[in-house]
Amino acid sequence: MPSIAGGRSSPMSIVGADVSSPQKRRLRSNSGLSDDPVFSTPPKPCSPLKTKSPRQCVDDSPNKRRTDVNEAASTDNITKMRKSPKKKLLDSFLDKPIWNPTDSEQLSAVKEALHVSTAPSVPVCREDEQKRIVEFCKQSIEQEKAGSLYVCGCPGTGKSLSMENVKKSLAIWAKETGGQFPEILGINCTSLSTTSEIFNKILGKSQPHKKINNRSTPLRQIQQLYSQKQQSSGTKMMLVIADELDYLITKDRVVLHDLFMLTTLPFSKVILIGIANAIDLAYRFLPKLQSLNCKPMVLSFRAYTMDQIIMILKQRLMALPYTVFQPQALELCARKVAASSGDMRKALGICRGAIERLEIELRESTSTSNLSSMVRVDHMAIALSRAYKSPIVDTIQSLPQHQQIVLCSAVKLFRKGKKDTTIGELNKFYIEVCKSTLIPPVGIMELSCMCRVLGDQGILKLGQSRDDKLKRVTLQVEEADIIFALQGIRFFHNCLQNNQWL
Ligand SMILES: Nc1ncnc2c1ncn2[C@@H]1O[C@H](COP(=O)(O)OP(=O)(O)O)[C@@H](O)[C@H]1O
Ligand SMILES: [Mg+2]
Repeated sequence: MPSIAGGRSSPMSIVGADVSSPQKRRLRSNSGLSDDPVFSTPPKPCSPLKTKSPRQCVDDSPNKRRTDVNEAASTDNITKMRKSPKKKLLDSFLDKPIWNPTDSEQLSAVKEALHVSTAPSVPVCREDEQKRIVEFCKQSIEQEKAGSLYVCGCPGTGKSLSMENVKKSLAIWAKETGGQFPEILGINCTSLSTTSEIFNKILGKSQPHKKINNRSTPLRQIQQLYSQKQQSSGTKMMLVIADELDYLITKDRVVLHDLFMLTTLPFSKVILIGIANAIDLAYRFLPKLQSLNCKPMVLSFRAYTMDQIIMILKQRLMALPYTVFQPQALELCARKVAASSGDMRKALGICRGAIERLEIELRESTSTSNLSSMVRVDHMAIALSRAYKSPIVDTIQSLPQHQQIVLCSAVKLFRKGKKDTTIGELNKFYIEVCKSTLIPPVGIMELSCMCRVLGDQGILKLGQSRDDKLKRVTLQVEEADIIFALQGIRFFHNCLQNNQWL
């Protein structure tokens, strides 16, 4: 099986060489948090007295223009290039004033910086992989030669994110060199209604002005197009990026085979990049492709290491003009996530969860004078244990959307200081949340049924009353668990942020 040639220190591998490690990592993570050396001897949270005051920190570096954060950050980056991520983390910690988590603007800026949908313009730690994909595309375009690349790696390892950057790089390259910019067709296979719909999309892109021919299947028409010189000669090279390729796996894998085989047709113009989360997919379908004389290149995205996770988190936080986390807290998160899955999505969710812990602590505390406003190791430890241990978080995350809206409404309602409410009252909040998000609400009967289901699952507790509207409702799980479970979903993220009813 060919792989893209790389140096000895290449972070990539042919699929297979890396297959066992995520499993091992997962096994280790299952053993729980208590056996983690960091956990058994948690680093002492820095006393706020020992850290410099925000003013002191600013005064220490009078020459630094705080207004241009990006500039400061990039200069910072160059001077610290040779230091370890841990050391760099400590340095940046000392550089900036400590944030104020009670300032709602700061709070939303920090959460935004850590949200999965906030993509950095130049993602760190995937430069090599991106370079190789761009090279593969450039070669195919320059030689007008069809080809296929199979990209795989565990979820959250930056595959989709990297593809966005690859597209940008290709556009720049085409502009600078006057090279051909291919037609680009990005498909998320999860959005296809049937697996073979992918061929409709490819046909539509390769012959946008041609009438649909219903006498032959789209696959057949593409095959004809790329089998005859005259037909294909007027068409441009086409880069097909098929993300979440796992969804195309049928029992006979025929769609997958047909798709890759398009690149082997004599006059094919298709450059295919298939991206999959299942790292064993290659084992399952590449041998057959090889026997059909189609050998995709293989590029594997390895799980992020602890240092890489630290670096990525730091890059995201660097744009903020204040320090939010104690470095030890970020390190703990990175260590734990790297040891379990190396999934960046998870690391970001846990960091946001730790911020929620701090928020709850500040809300519940009567005297804030002796509290450091930074996110500390103990906040992170709780967020980590929730993410890795709490089955309730999984349950909430897999509930139907309207049940999640009910829980979100309950959280908003209980934030007002109430300990319990009635279904009638909950319904009002539920309708408000639905309105604000343009989702049609269900009727009170259905809401009452949903509350019963949530009661059966041990998430809500319902009182007795003949009149449904008057039934009392309390939360049976911690508010923090609901917030943690829902905050990663953009819809609820905004909803839980919105303070208009608080
Ligand atoms: N190198 C990186 N730098 C910054 N953020 C990253 C990086 N890799 C992953 N992420 C974050 O994690 C999220 C998940 O990454 P993604 O590329 O969608 O993973 P995959 O496609 O491998 O499942 C991204 O949306 C992004 O927010
Ligand atoms: Mg992806």
